[in-house]
Amino acid sequence: MSRIEEHPILGKTEERKEVTFTYDGRKMKGYEGEPIATALRVAGVMIHRYTKKRHEPRGVFCAIGRCTDCVMVVDGKPNIRTCITPLEEGMIVETQYGAKAKEEAK
Ligand code: FES
Repeated sequence: MSRIEEHPILGKTEERKEVTFTYDGRKMKGYEGEPIATALRVAGVMIHRYTKKRHEPRGVFCAIGRCTDCVMVVDGKPNIRTCITPLEEGMIVETQYGAKAKEEAK
């Protein structure tokens, strides 16, 4: 995946500070202040959480902070809506299983 660096109507993207963060133990890069979900999407990450009862995958759906399909565990805190939460240097982002960062043994 790639980013839109120059848009025909919105123009050129202004310079931003690159930051590093961790996604499920993997180091990744993104831009400070962009939604966490954007940095993940650029890296090809589509699944943000699994539902508690049926273990179905969920990812960005509304992208405006309404549906909670994009929630993840961020810096140890569950239920963070990644589509509206700005990315910061050193964030630890983890896939959410039910309300936790680790999948429970069945
Ligand atoms: S995608 Fe709906 S709240 Fe984030």
